[in-house]
Amino acid sequence: MVALTVNGRRYEVEVPVDTPLLWVLRDNLGLTGTKYGCGRALCGACTVHVNGKAVRSCVTPVSAVIGKEVLTIEGLAPDADHPVQLAWIAEDVPQCGYCQSGQIMSAVALLAANPRPTDADIDQAMSANLCRCGTYPRIRKAIHRAAATMAAGGHR
Ligand code: FES
Repeated sequence: MVALTVNGRRYEVEVPVDTPLLWVLRDNLGLTGTKYGCGRALCGACTVHVNGKAVRSCVTPVSAVIGKEVLTIEGLAPDADHPVQLAWIAEDVPQCGYCQSGQIMSAVALLAANPRPTDADIDQAMSANLCRCGTYPRIRKAIHRAAATMAAGGHR
């Protein structure tokens, strides 16, 4: 049995300790907003936060998050109204949408570390989140928009 805290709630799951966190989130907890992309930490679709840092849940064994705080896209804001999510809507970022939970979680982690990123900062921080639909220009605009909103007091 493994006990973990996800989105502020404690869970106990009966899984081997080397089970990837992504499987626990999706299959045991029903949190399917986090996506399986490559399974090898190469695409970023499975990005969640562990103690505030963006991690690839497909290659993170559930044992590695015991005693830590896991945050998924579902826990970002109670009404899906985090400034980054609102900026994503305003800039009409998603195309197919598959990569977007991971993109948003990486963007939130970026803005926590660097509240006013430059284009170069964004490109570097987001470079490991792949989008087969090529939404990168809109992602960049949305991050700038969210940064401005948060700087103006729209923080969470
Ligand atoms: Fe389709 Fe990014 S929106 S993969």
